[in-house]
Amino acid sequence: MEASLGQTGLPRHIAIIMDGNGRWAKSRGLTRIAGHRAGAESVRETVRACGELGIGVLTLYAFSVENWRRPEAEVNALMLLLRQYLRGEVSELKKNNVRLNAIGRIGGLPKTVRAELARACAATAGNTGLLLNLAINYGGRTELVDAFRQLAAPLRDGRIRPEDIDEETIGQHLYTAGLPDPDLLIRTSGEMRLSNFLLWQGAYTEIYVTDTLWPDFRRPDLVKAIKEFQKRERRFGGVKGQ
Ligand code: FPP
Repeated sequence: MEASLGQTGLPRHIAIIMDGNGRWAKSRGLTRIAGHRAGAESVRETVRACGELGIGVLTLYAFSVENWRRPEAEVNALMLLLRQYLRGEVSELKKNNVRLNAIGRIGGLPKTVRAELARACAATAGNTGLLLNLAINYGGRTELVDAFRQLAAPLRDGRIRPEDIDEETIGQHLYTAGLPDPDLLIRTSGEMRLSNFLLWQGAYTEIYVTDTLWPDFRRPDLVKAIKEFQKRERRFGGVKGQ
């Protein structure tokens, strides 16, 4: 199956909404936290596979600005899992030439997570392979709010004029400045929602939804999604064959 994947027509940027940890756990009589722990294993495998397949950017929706509404014990467990992942995975990321980056309101995360994140980003900063972009305390609308706030001061001071603002200007003020827009968005566990993920960047993203729950998501599932993507005809608002 994988042999025919090839290097042409690969998505440059894959984004994933990793959903279904809770349902996976419930169906096994386990706690939701156990589901997230199992999900971290899928993260490891997906990162490795994306690196090996030659994907440029992988953005994972690890924690949204809305996720603070979850029970405190679950939020704490997710923060702990993130720290453990960051600490435990650095050597593997280095070995696989993966560069780590985080997007979201990073300043709003617990100090311990911020410290681990800074350490892991610095340790992998020189890597030239896959860029692993972790969306943590991320919201698409929050990201736009932050971009508008950044633009407000230069507008007020007259350093830029309203008519100078175009789509590129907005893009340069997003957390993803400098990155290509996602070509493929994968959402696991069947829900057909964007859930406030990459709202601006996803304008022309191909969406692939699988019923597979995130803790069950493995390399063959990723390859299947990429193959489906390769069959899509992207027109970006134009017409066929243009
Ligand atoms: C959604 O499943 C998943 C999350 C809110 C958290 C995602 C976190 C991980 C996969 C593990 C840690 C991440 C890293 C990067 C190591 P859900 O809980 O909403 O599932 P449900 O819809 O079945 O309840």
